[in-house]
Amino acid sequence: NKGKYEHYMQKEIHEQPESLTTTMRGRLKRGGSTKAKTVLLGGLKDHIKSIRRSRRIVFIGCGTSYNAALAARPIIEELSGVPVTMEIASDLVDRQGPIYREDTAVFVSQSGETADTLLALEYALENGALCVGITNTVGSAIARNTHCGIHLNAGCEIGVASTKAYTSQIVVMAMLALAIGDDAISSQARREAIIDGLFDLPNKVREVLKLDQEMKELAKLLIAEQSLLVFGRGYNFATALEGALKVKEVSLMHSEGMLAGEMKHGPLALVDENLPIIVIATRDACFSKQQSVIQQLHARKGRLIVVCSKGDAAAVCPGGSSSCRVIEVPQVEDCLQPVVNIIPLQLLAYHLTVLRGYNVDQPRNLAKSVTTQ
Ligand code: M6R
Repeated sequence: NKGKYEHYMQKEIHEQPESLTTTMRGRLKRGGSTKAKTVLLGGLKDHIKSIRRSRRIVFIGCGTSYNAALAARPIIEELSGVPVTMEIASDLVDRQGPIYREDTAVFVSQSGETADTLLALEYALENGALCVGITNTVGSAIARNTHCGIHLNAGCEIGVASTKAYTSQIVVMAMLALAIGDDAISSQARREAIIDGLFDLPNKVREVLKLDQEMKELAKLLIAEQSLLVFGRGYNFATALEGALKVKEVSLMHSEGMLAGEMKHGPLALVDENLPIIVIATRDACFSKQQSVIQQLHARKGRLIVVCSKGDAAAVCPGGSSSCRVIEVPQVEDCLQPVVNIIPLQLLAYHLTVLRGYNVDQPRNLAKSVTTQ
């Protein structure tokens, strides 16, 4: 049932304040003044110590689910101190890459039925790793065959383009980071700030959804473009990959997400006054590096669209508002910022698709759940 919306993708983008609330429900505890703030992940309680002691955490997934894990990687590394590596499921299986008994392998999949991810799970089980599932589908193959796991509780996602599952996946993995790091006194203040940020996140998402009309206007400007680049780094490298995936998947416009730190190693050659480039430059430890990326793109007359924190328009637009278009988003705790930052890009992909006259909920050649190799 699409309710008041025209498409499932549109509905699922707009219901993210509610889906994030249900993802967190019953899992975050903010006790009285003497009680510490904590996270409870029922499905992991018997395994959390083993995860904490593992030699490595390996995230495995495809498409959007992989991108969500990439967004969560820095906070898991920071709070757990355990090295985190990333695997695209098909590539791990193709390479028969090393997976050990001392590893925790985390399988991220909205449907829980993706063939490549399932094959990687079989492989990790054979190699003796502790296997954790993060899925949105109770009773799915990945939920059944992993040793333990966390359900997204984001509600059924129907649009082929994953939107609300992505933001719920990031939140679940942020909670996983909090749960693994729960025994460290040194990071208690950081953990509590993240828990406060999680409680407030649905409100911030509600706020950023107000950009809907602005993103429709931007889509009108981009409607006839051939190509789009998206640059991000740090927590928002994933935002660049996921934003570009959304645009290409539904609007059928070529788009590439890139690590801003790689700009000078090739992509800079593409820059001219015609190619639209989105730069994610919200406030975090990488902000000044993104400012200099913007300056370099500006010096080459790049056509810039900058996603920045509220009030930062002047700080990110070297030549004033005529030189670039700015999308201001609310600032949240750095590790939660990818949840907020992806939303204008989801809205852009949605409006571009409708304006270009393509099928939003069922893009050509794609299936919601890829159950064959
Ligand atoms: O169900 P899964 O999360 O395992 O699906 C993985 C990908 O097929 C999926 O995320 C795909 O990339 C989406 N259609 C992207 O919007």
